[in-house]
Amino acid sequence: MKTGIKRVDALEILDSRGHPTLEVDVELEGGWTGRAAVPAGASTGSHEARELRDGGPRYGGRGVSRAVAAVTGELARAVRGVDALDQPGLDRVLVEADGTRRKERLGANSLLGVSLAAARAGARAKGLPLYRRLAELAGKERPILPVPQLNVINGGRHADNGLQVQEFMIMPGGASSFAEALRWAAEVYHSLRELLRRGGHTVNVGDEGGFAPGLRTDEEALEVLVRSIQAAGLAPGRDVSLALDAAASEFFQDGRYRPTGRPEGLTAGEMIELYRTWADAYPVISLEDGLAEDDWEGWVELTSRLGGRLQLVGDDLFVTDPERLEQGLRRGAANAILIKVNQIGTLTETLHTLALAERRGCPAVISHRSGETGDTFIADLAVGTAAGQIKTGAPCRGERVAKYNRLLRIEAEAGGQLGYGLPAEG
Ligand code: PGA
Ligand code: ZN
Repeated sequence: MKTGIKRVDALEILDSRGHPTLEVDVELEGGWTGRAAVPAGASTGSHEARELRDGGPRYGGRGVSRAVAAVTGELARAVRGVDALDQPGLDRVLVEADGTRRKERLGANSLLGVSLAAARAGARAKGLPLYRRLAELAGKERPILPVPQLNVINGGRHADNGLQVQEFMIMPGGASSFAEALRWAAEVYHSLRELLRRGGHTVNVGDEGGFAPGLRTDEEALEVLVRSIQAAGLAPGRDVSLALDAAASEFFQDGRYRPTGRPEGLTAGEMIELYRTWADAYPVISLEDGLAEDDWEGWVELTSRLGGRLQLVGDDLFVTDPERLEQGLRRGAANAILIKVNQIGTLTETLHTLALAERRGCPAVISHRSGETGDTFIADLAVGTAAGQIKTGAPCRGERVAKYNRLLRIEAEAGGQLGYGLPAEG
């Protein structure tokens, strides 16, 4: 069998924050190869699959030499000879080799590297661009270019300023192609830079390429975003809307929400009221992790109060896990899901969660992590699965721009055959 796996290799490389991560190579018997690098989060949800890290003095404990050994040892032996074109079968072998619920034995980083590298090798063996191969695996006939959520102002755990919201994003949903959307986003990004500068702020960038200005309040950030959309000659709310990721698990303590500067804390109800005032005053259409990962009651209230007018995205809430998504949809908590491949650990499980979301009419946003590499797998994943949305940072920093550039390339090579935007209903 020429598409059986012949060789698996791994290397400890650096991610965009200078922390180690894994790069995995897979070679098939017929000579086709695939390579993938694994991303890593900073504001990770407590229900995510676990990364395997070394501990000890190397790299402040973050080394991945044990994960390299897991890939080149146990996992390589388990997958040798397995057909790379049978992605579900291959991923099952990986999951069973680990044998734990959260993949803590061999590490979700180890499993994911092999899973994604094998998918790339499989696409090469079939002579398909990766997004076409992923569309095949997802059973999709109509791949589509996603609407990007570009994180242009960084706060929370991704910056050292007073902003409670971790990510202030722009969504150029009114564009007619991905290329136009990205141009608009870059133009807004530059007018934002100019406005911040004129306001006496630094324009240093945070982990995801957004500016990390010393703004005092979230409202100030929303205000300057609206002005920068207008300054770029675009209409807020029609051409370009706003999306937020509060990453609220990060400031939830002892039953209350305690963002910087609010030590007394807020209840879930007060947080929801705050979000309502923002949705009234600004063109916000999407809110991710508005409440904490285990505040199910709060989420149900949030969804019943604002779910009719906002996309309420569960990131730490769902962690790409079909069981948590199922639970959320049953209770009426959130109405959309963030999809991060390393939260669950294999491609097949990711596709499984996406399929469940689609069956339930729950929109999905394919996402990077704050720690990234030049790997562009998620760009192809967003197109191939026709998810309709992607968030992969600002139009700045090589590891973010690499994904956007890959989307430009896919759109150009398809010669106008692929649509742009949210998938059609039904
Ligand atoms: P992370 O943050 O990659 O640092 O976890 C991204 C997010 O919360 O969406
Ligand atoms: Zn998030």
